[in-house]
Amino acid sequence: MAPRFITFEGLDGSGKSTHLRMAVEWLSERGVEIVQTHEPGGTPLGGMLRAALLGSEVIPADGVVELMLVFTSRRQNLVERIDPALAAGKTVFCDRFTDSTYAYQGYGRGVAMEAIAALDRIATGERRPDLTLLFDLPPELARERSHSHRRQAQADGTDRLDAEGLEFYRRVREGYLELAALEEERFRVIDSSGPHGETAAQVRQMLHGLAVDRSRSAVSQRG
Ligand code: TYD
Repeated sequence: MAPRFITFEGLDGSGKSTHLRMAVEWLSERGVEIVQTHEPGGTPLGGMLRAALLGSEVIPADGVVELMLVFTSRRQNLVERIDPALAAGKTVFCDRFTDSTYAYQGYGRGVAMEAIAALDRIATGERRPDLTLLFDLPPELARERSHSHRRQAQADGTDRLDAEGLEFYRRVREGYLELAALEEERFRVIDSSGPHGETAAQVRQMLHGLAVDRSRSAVSQRG
């Protein structure tokens, strides 16, 4: 059976959100309807938590506070959006999920992995997606891309990558790759350092099964 709960992961500037949007368009042209959501956020409560975590007004927060905010947002997203959509037989694309927490708070900030696992048990029952696309590229390149992307948006030209420093993002990237190596069945590592079109082609290839599944079920309904 085709995967139904699919997540997109990677560094800021890895292009994952753009590729998620393009994949949704590509699939919708083939008659596959996708429910889209993202984290932190995806629900009204999640939006408030996202603003607290990432809004322009910087609120000093340590890794454990971040951890609690992202898992609160995640539980709400599961209860309010993801699980009802899956129960209705829909396919869900989520921009970031628990792998982000292990990568950013765990490997990046050094929050104890047991603390993350404990909250994960409470908030999600250790839920894992059916499939995770990891958009991998060196942090230097992610920074470059994120700069050119945001230059118009932020007058001073700075962003979270500058605030955290490259060392942090190196740890996050290594963390992601370790997670992918631990669960090879679930992860697909996509090299997103090349031209945009090449990355998009890799994504389409990996999601091809969703379109095929849909045309099969259309045939069986007709027959
Ligand atoms: P994202 O929405 O992908 O950022 P943008 O689209 O603006 O590039 O992610 C927001 C930030 O939140 C990103 O820096 C990663 C961070 N984050 C965590 O630190 N932990 C988490 O569990 C999640 C979901 C995100």
